[in-house]
Amino acid sequence: MVNIKRIGILTSGGDAPGMNAAIRAVTRAAIANEMTVKGICRGFKGLISDEIEDLKTQHVSNIIQRGGTILKSARSEQFKTDEGMQAAYDRIVEHEIDALVVIGGDGTMTGARFFAQKYNLPIVGLPGTIDNDLYGTDITIGYDTALNTIVECVDKIHDTASSHDRLFFIEVMGRYAGFLALNGAIASGAEAAMIPEISMQKDQLAELIKTGFRKSKNSSIVLVAENTVPGGAMGLAERVKNEYPQFDVRVSVLGHLQRGGNPTAQDRILATRMGVAAIEALLEGQRNVMIGIQNDKITLVPFAKAIKNNKPIDPNLLNILDIVSK
Ligand code: F6P
Repeated sequence: MVNIKRIGILTSGGDAPGMNAAIRAVTRAAIANEMTVKGICRGFKGLISDEIEDLKTQHVSNIIQRGGTILKSARSEQFKTDEGMQAAYDRIVEHEIDALVVIGGDGTMTGARFFAQKYNLPIVGLPGTIDNDLYGTDITIGYDTALNTIVECVDKIHDTASSHDRLFFIEVMGRYAGFLALNGAIASGAEAAMIPEISMQKDQLAELIKTGFRKSKNSSIVLVAENTVPGGAMGLAERVKNEYPQFDVRVSVLGHLQRGGNPTAQDRILATRMGVAAIEALLEGQRNVMIGIQNDKITLVPFAKAIKNNKPIDPNLLNILDIVSK
């Protein structure tokens, strides 16, 4: 077993429901292994500016059910510079932190990878992002909660869409990935999902208008992932107005609603399992890996692999949506 006396923990990038459950699990697992824990506020930004406090077991009581992150989060441009990274490392030395646990998405794992390489510091990452776009893990912390929020919203929009015989484009988050849009569409009984992975290859809108709508239905719901070309949900609605004026079209952008709320049981359990696994991994001498989960087994994914940004969409899910929406 590797001798680690003190860890630092931070959350960075877009917050995700379940981050608090992860902070709690990491803190408690570290304390159970006789380590002390330093909570770093506002991610790498707060590391640079020395926003660092002790995290004791009582500080993480009663947080498993809360959305957001008690450590707060930020995206730091300064951390991308040599000076910024050096300042961050100086704080690590000053606080006698032996290893770091970072919770976040693609940007966080990328920052952690360079930091770990540059200063030979053991770092373990936890995938905390609603986007589910990290390679090497079937699911990320926050994704299930966001998906459930989307379904709840789409259910409500369904009511008004069918009352007015309207076509709704509902834009969901996902950065450059279509997981939320595609699975959100399947789970809410929507007609289609427009996702960046496909919109670059073909004109999804033309195809949908040509073949996509069931004849017996007067209203339709289409989930659109942000960054779907052209112009997300707004861009698609504009096109419909110009090219297919027979449709009464409306847009709803769900936005940051999707990032808030109490985490689902699944996200709490996932975050707890991953948090404990992060401490076990550090004690086994693992470093510069992200904790993943595949087929319900915890895995270790090198940062370099996790951030390649090529986690594929299962094409079968598109088929399934197509079959059940006709
Ligand atoms: O990565 C999480 C995420 O919510 C993305 O889905 C979205 O593109 C982005 O963050 C929004 O970031 P911000 O909260 O900084 O606007």
